[in-house]
Amino acid sequence: MLMQKKIVEMFDSIAPKYDIANRILSLGIDIKWRKEAIEETVKDIDKNNIRILDVACGTGDMIGIWQKTIKNKTLKICGLDPSKGMLEVAKKRFPQITFYNAYATEIPCEDSSFDVISISFGIRNVLEIEKALNEFNRILDKNGRLLILEFVRDNKNKKLRKCIDFYTNKFLPKIGGIITKNKEAYEYLPKSIENFYTVEELSNLLKKAGFEIKKVKLFNFSQVAMIIAQKI
Ligand SMILES: C[S@@+](CC[C@H](N)C(=O)[O-])C[C@H]1O[C@@H](n2cnc3c(N)ncnc32)[C@H](O)[C@@H]1O
Repeated sequence: MLMQKKIVEMFDSIAPKYDIANRILSLGIDIKWRKEAIEETVKDIDKNNIRILDVACGTGDMIGIWQKTIKNKTLKICGLDPSKGMLEVAKKRFPQITFYNAYATEIPCEDSSFDVISISFGIRNVLEIEKALNEFNRILDKNGRLLILEFVRDNKNKKLRKCIDFYTNKFLPKIGGIITKNKEAYEYLPKSIENFYTVEELSNLLKKAGFEIKKVKLFNFSQVAMIIAQKI
């Protein structure tokens, strides 16, 4: 658990500058993926009052996109993150929302209490991933959906990704380090992608945890995966 604690401390330390660094470094291209992923996740959910938990919510980027994207259905959205620093920013942005200061592996919510769980650019930071997926399955209601957006390892498109990898490995730590004064945190990103799963491996873990894969789509030269899974 020590390593996990260190990861969260790193997010605590960059929290005040996280939003500005993210805006500059992503150039906003993630917004399109997030919207598409949300629309795809809820498109055939035939119910109003969808209960959503955004896990690893950070400063609340995904919560903002949920609110803007879903207009014809009522949403009850909550956020969860173990980093107090990230949550402090999120609470200022969304004072009306309930936030849980907790790990994805120990969610303080009842069984079957949500229709959708979203986790964007968060699951890679969860060291006990199988435990977290079981926990997601527990708190999702029957046929509940899990939306994962994440950087994944890719063994196929090596040549195509050279340019993107240059950006992630060299440019991003430099600029991220200057903005947040924590270069280490931005060196962690490429390292954590290298040590993470491929989209196939992640899908297999989901199946093992009691999910059926509904849709997979890759963005950004296969660097980012959207996986929508349903609780069986
Ligand atoms: C890159 S940020 C992503 C924030 C947000 N979801 C977004 O899309 O911008 C990763 C977040 O994962 C959180 N995190 C790290 N370890 C976690 C864990 N074990 N369980 C839940 N969240 C975790 C961090 O505190 C951080 O806020």
